[in-house]
Amino acid sequence: MILVTGGAGFIGSNFVLDWLEAMDEPVVDLDRLTYAGNLENLRSLANDPRHIFVRGDIGDFALVAQLLAEHRPRAIIHFAAESHVDRSIHGPEDFIQTNIVGTYRLLEAARGYWSKLTETEKAAFRFLHVSTDEVYGSLGPAEAPFSETHRYEPNSPYSASKAGSDHLVRAWHHTYGLPVLTTNCSNNYGPYQFPEKLIPLMIVNALAGKPLPIYGDGQNVRDWLYVKDHCSAIREVLARGRVGETYNIGGWNEKTNLEIVRTICQRLDTLRPRPDGNTYAAQITFVKDRPGHDRRYAIDARKIERELGWRPRETFETGIEKTVKWYLDNPEWVAHVQSGAYREWIDRQYGS
Ligand code: NAD
Ligand code: DAU
Repeated sequence: MILVTGGAGFIGSNFVLDWLEAMDEPVVDLDRLTYAGNLENLRSLANDPRHIFVRGDIGDFALVAQLLAEHRPRAIIHFAAESHVDRSIHGPEDFIQTNIVGTYRLLEAARGYWSKLTETEKAAFRFLHVSTDEVYGSLGPAEAPFSETHRYEPNSPYSASKAGSDHLVRAWHHTYGLPVLTTNCSNNYGPYQFPEKLIPLMIVNALAGKPLPIYGDGQNVRDWLYVKDHCSAIREVLARGRVGETYNIGGWNEKTNLEIVRTICQRLDTLRPRPDGNTYAAQITFVKDRPGHDRRYAIDARKIERELGWRPRETFETGIEKTVKWYLDNPEWVAHVQSGAYREWIDRQYGS
């Protein structure tokens, strides 16, 4: 049995689905179901007794302690977070509460549970913290990609709150001996991603005939990783990662935002041509930049390859093809997530 937090979100739900396919080991899934959590992602598990869903907050110490005592997991995989940089700029409070205070309470509950295990169980237990490359800050064009020893220089309320959580996880290992692992990953994309993030936003806007809003000059660079590759990397780190260590996870796919959006337009031009025969790229619009927008992220993922033999399976070309097709094949999922709350956010961020 493992405990997953945030298992109804984008990466968490992909992880739970892949885990139950690959491992046949039950999962307790603790998720508060914020705007980003969606049980529709897990609909295929509705009658699967191996998936136990609990709606609740990672910051609810009593609830987490009770779940740990009841289910006695051998590991906690911690995905739950507020994850959207633009939202963190508009309202940092939730990010501090969930990403820092919530992670602290989760660590305390885990420590209480772990300290009462037998010596063998204690040695086998793992707390795997899922973090981001954004904690390392922004790179210049010629700088080497982020390695695990790169200094922490977070620039947004989101990345600062994730950096805070990374430091807490590290301290709980160093001070109390909790067997932790931390992963810092680059931008994920794939099925079930909420359409406020770049790739799904561009796909749904393109199909709806809306503008494709690119911040600033579109030359900001991200490294892109297909979500299922992230999930397999986490399984490897959990199985064989060295306790107390950090592993950077990346796709070896540095691209500018403009390249990403143009690629999506090309795929859509082939798979679902516009009725008027024009290219979707005609919908590209340059809009006001994100405040403090990090210019470039790049991941040096050699450590996880060297130590655990993990490399991503998808190239950007194969991953984006699968992703675009998934959004085309799942219009109901898209329609359901575009609720009143979603529309409010889009109006606030981009104007009505
Ligand atoms: P997401 O926003 O899609 O999902 C987050 C999930 O956490 C949601 O289901 C939400 O309901 C849940 N949640 C939020 N606050 C909670 C709380 N207080 N208690 C319990 N559940 C809560 O996020 P995601 O993109 O799936 O990211 C998952 C994790 O991976 C995050 O920790 C994020 O920082 C990290 N990460 C994401 C990316 C990316 O590109 N998406 C890249 C690197 C790292
Ligand atoms: O690097 C990992 C991080 O990637 C994760 O930790 C975060 O949880 C995840 O949200 C993501 O953060 P980004 O800020 O990089 O993702 P986002 O999809 O919001 O933006 C990607 C890039 O696209 C960024 O440079 C901003 C730009 N962008 C984004 C949106 C939503 C646009 O140009 N226009 C947009 O409308």
